Amino acid sequence: MNGVRHLYVHLPFCAHRCGYCDFVTAVGRRDQHAAYVDAVLRELEEERHVLADPLDTVFLGGGTPTFTALPELVRLLEALPPAGEVTVEANPETVTPELARALQASGVTRVSLGAQSFRPHLLGVLERGARPEDVRRAFAHLRDAGFDNLSLDLIYGIPGQTVADLEADLADAIALGPDHLSCYELEAKPGTRFTHAWGDELARQAEAMEDYFERVVAVLTEHGYRWYETANFCREGKRALHNLGYWLGRDYLGVGLGAVSTIATERRRNTPRLARYLAGDYEREIEELDDDTRARERVMLGLRLDDPLPIAGLEHALDPAGLARVEQLGLAERGDDTLTLTQRGRYLGGAVTAALLG
Ligand SMILES: C[S@@+](CC[C@H](N)C(=O)[O-])C[C@H]1O[C@@H](n2cnc3c(N)ncnc32)[C@H](O)[C@@H]1O
Ligand code: SF4
Repeated sequence: MNGVRHLYVHLPFCAHRCGYCDFVTAVGRRDQHAAYVDAVLRELEEERHVLADPLDTVFLGGGTPTFTALPELVRLLEALPPAGEVTVEANPETVTPELARALQASGVTRVSLGAQSFRPHLLGVLERGARPEDVRRAFAHLRDAGFDNLSLDLIYGIPGQTVADLEADLADAIALGPDHLSCYELEAKPGTRFTHAWGDELARQAEAMEDYFERVVAVLTEHGYRWYETANFCREGKRALHNLGYWLGRDYLGVGLGAVSTIATERRRNTPRLARYLAGDYEREIEELDDDTRARERVMLGLRLDDPLPIAGLEHALDPAGLARVEQLGLAERGDDTLTLTQRGRYLGGAVTAALLG
């Protein structure tokens, strides 16, 4: 088999562990960055036979990929197979002119910058290392280095964030002219320090979040961004092709600590334990995906997009009574063998999908 066209590479190192984050991360460990890149390249070599040549997309996510020692990050990038889109996630405070130029010279085509907010007090609540001016400076360094595909991540629903704060964040983000924006509602991840401190507050404000979400969509679409996925917005031609692969149910290979792969009927997850991974023991958790599970995932992910979901072959996953109800309420529309959520349906998102799946 050599048809997998999407590759994810996990780089777990971060300067600090933000209280709200439950990604697989490791703080500091500068002395292990080289060994980690060696381990990733070893794993990739073992798995290379499943990959198409060339690939459509590569995504380096984290952790903070740009916290990885720069010579090691460059060595990794230069050893990766070629792809049409190569994205790297970056934290603003790590982006120097030198890093921006090195990414550009190593074949990176797209950078996704974790801004989260431009309000200093809200960045404080999130324990972010970057100040608003760091985000602006990072963005300018990346543009100066020649990047024409830059994305910003924003988080809304931060405790203490007013509607005026949200509107100011959106205005500040738009003022930078990003090609793509991801706007996530702050999630209380079980077991995190943040959930311990703020979980009750997030539960209290949950209802208000529907309005915040609608505000995000209204402001960004008024400014010419396409709301192409529940939490993602882009300028014409600038969809995130790697993530689009996930939403379209394509196969992907993930390498690195805790990385997930889905290939044909198998999903597997690498060990999240750094020492094991460095020793070349991937200790994979394997899950067999039956037809029904794959079809339900296709519906859940596919309906996040604004493009119609082709439903041929997925009918068995849809509950006829749920479908009729959702159509009657004007939350979804059926075309010739397709299903699309209406604007109202997209605001309600998961609840509509749950009704459709029965
Ligand atoms: C892999 S993460 C981190 C990327 C990068 N290290 C950073 O912190 O900016 C990618 C994105 O997920 C989002 N995210 C992380 N934890 C979240 C949470 N608990 N709720 C909502 N969004 C979250 C953030 O917007 C973040 O930029
Ligand atoms: S920098 Fe990003 S990946 Fe690292 S702990 Fe913070 S949110 Fe998580």
